[in-house]
Amino acid sequence: MRNVDTPTPLRPERANPSAFQQRLSRWNHRRLQPAVPHADWATDAQEDAEMILIEGAWVERLRAEAQPWLADLPEDPARFVDWFEALQGAGPGENDPLFPWLAEEADLGQMRWFLQQEVAGEAGFDDLVAMAQVKMPDRPKLELARNYWDEMGRGNMGGMHGPMLGKLADHLRLTPTIEGTVWPSLALGNVLVAFSTTRRYAYHALGALGVVELTAPWRAGHVAAGLKRLGVGPERKYYALHATLDVEHSRTWNDEVLTPLAQDHPETIRSLAEGAVIRMMAGAACFDAYRDHLWGPQMEARSA
Ligand SMILES: [Fe+2]
Ligand SMILES: [Fe+2]
Repeated sequence: MRNVDTPTPLRPERANPSAFQQRLSRWNHRRLQPAVPHADWATDAQEDAEMILIEGAWVERLRAEAQPWLADLPEDPARFVDWFEALQGAGPGENDPLFPWLAEEADLGQMRWFLQQEVAGEAGFDDLVAMAQVKMPDRPKLELARNYWDEMGRGNMGGMHGPMLGKLADHLRLTPTIEGTVWPSLALGNVLVAFSTTRRYAYHALGALGVVELTAPWRAGHVAAGLKRLGVGPERKYYALHATLDVEHSRTWNDEVLTPLAQDHPETIRSLAEGAVIRMMAGAACFDAYRDHLWGPQMEARSA
């Protein structure tokens, strides 16, 4: 096995995680943006080569950090899906007290700050699914297509999920920026982009996106309740929708993506599981950072 710790790429992250994640976020923004031919393309390609190494070393470290959560991972395909589903309510970041607080207590300024972080870290589920599905086996590919079609509002602009979140952001006059975002939110988006754009992490992507479907409804329901309490009207639809639709998305993802992959390609089980756990750990780091900012150390200590 190659030693990922010999080159220096991980050092900047440990020393200054904020600068590291901002650099990855800026690179992801640049490399995913549709563009036209330009004179600096070779400079961009050199940056891509360097950043791919830095990104890969970072993901390898995340994989190592996820291992304690994988000690009881079953090899058996049927038991794997049960294991995966048991992450709901029990995996990293589940039942975080931040969400009941958002539902019941946060004021509008606090809710706006939270949403601004979430919007800034949002990598776009639709694009992540589209990139991850390349060359996947037929049955998973078909489910990923159905999921993507839902993201596309089944062909109706008004039902597209990305612009729906954009409408809420506009309504609340959010101004998400890379610099104004806590680094765990940037890391959450960056790890999902790394998974979906890197073929050796393609099954990590499917595990990570699947665990979003599995765990998002509880959080989205609380955010929707908080927005309703604060008087936000139809613009809260993105959260209200994901509180229910993702229950069904999760069921079909587990049946049509995870089950056939685990049965027909059991060598992917570990990657699917790692992707899920890493995504949950990234989420948990966000909730920690949000509570630190929104509650301050005093209230944090009381809740511990
Ligand atoms: Fe969605
Ligand atoms: Fe979904």
